[in-house]
Amino acid sequence: MSAQNAPEGADALRPEAIEASTSAALAAIAAAGTMAELKDARLAHAGDRSALALANRAIGSIPPTERKEAGRLLGAARARVQQALAERTEQVEAAELARTLLAETVDVTLPVELQPEGAIHPIRGLIDLMSDVFVAMGWEVAEGPELEAEWLNFDALNIGADHPSRGETDTLFVEPVSNHLVMRTHTSPVQARALLTRDLPVYVICPGKTYRADEYDATHLPVFHQVEGLAVDKGLSLAHLRGTLDHFAQAMFGAGIRTRMRPHYFPFTEPSAEVDLQCFVCRGESVGNPDRPCRTCKSEGWIEWGGCGVVNPRVLRACGVDPEVYSGFAFGMGIERTLQSRNNLSDMRDLVEGDVRFSRTLKGVAR
Ligand code: PHE
Repeated sequence: MSAQNAPEGADALRPEAIEASTSAALAAIAAAGTMAELKDARLAHAGDRSALALANRAIGSIPPTERKEAGRLLGAARARVQQALAERTEQVEAAELARTLLAETVDVTLPVELQPEGAIHPIRGLIDLMSDVFVAMGWEVAEGPELEAEWLNFDALNIGADHPSRGETDTLFVEPVSNHLVMRTHTSPVQARALLTRDLPVYVICPGKTYRADEYDATHLPVFHQVEGLAVDKGLSLAHLRGTLDHFAQAMFGAGIRTRMRPHYFPFTEPSAEVDLQCFVCRGESVGNPDRPCRTCKSEGWIEWGGCGVVNPRVLRACGVDPEVYSGFAFGMGIERTLQSRNNLSDMRDLVEGDVRFSRTLKGVAR
């Protein structure tokens, strides 16, 4: 029964009429199998224009003595309809959910196409680790171009025209040679760039690619990476360089690891030294101890790490810095070399093969 042909006015309040409207409502609610059908049933039998709603509006038109009884009947009828609606809603919702779950079942046993996950390349990983050590001390990361002006790669760094590393054997000159461009042979030109472009004091770390006409074998790559450090400030000395390198070594290789300096020559530093790292595997205990040989340092107790020194005043002057007021130190090390000893790599060429399985095996730098 719809609201349209329901008895109107006082007729709708007769007990039989209320009973009939209620049964019609309950039947429609029970018959609704979906939420949409339930919505229609609610509108027709519990909405503003439903028979029971119309009957409610008619209460004022019957004699006052009958109103109480009619109101009680009507109230009970509407409560039954509301309760039936609530119960049916719950059932239909549960049924619909069950249907959806069934329809959207995922067969976890079906074969899937696996996308291999990439890995940070160990060189990049180590560069990030190294940069973090210095950024934590307030240094900045500086970058320079790989195709570099011959003047910045050599002359500004006090490497004269007759220096052996300037010869065709080591350096890759880029044609036309009259342009005086080279593939940078080290990251040290970034020292000059930093001094020429930045305000003093300067504390920069510069990781990057370097190029040399070198062999391609287990311990050499013609394209490799270095990390350069440069500090120029008032009153800096060799002592600050030592402290910085010790901190760097410990942050990279473990607490207590020391460094040592062996006198050396670099045109751009004076005095200059080669810096060695105390072996972080045996800590020197393999030296003179044939029972405990160490693969990492070949039982020498120390691992060659890089070059360093106090910035040559001629470099400061070439870059417009007054060596009477400012002094500084610099250091540079090979990243492949560092990685080779740090992770016991037998062949550097693995680093350029681009095999992600290799990258994943490098603990600490592979993430
Ligand atoms: N540039 C030097 C090299 O390639 C390393 C170095 C850097 C030495 C800074 C001293 C100071 O061998």
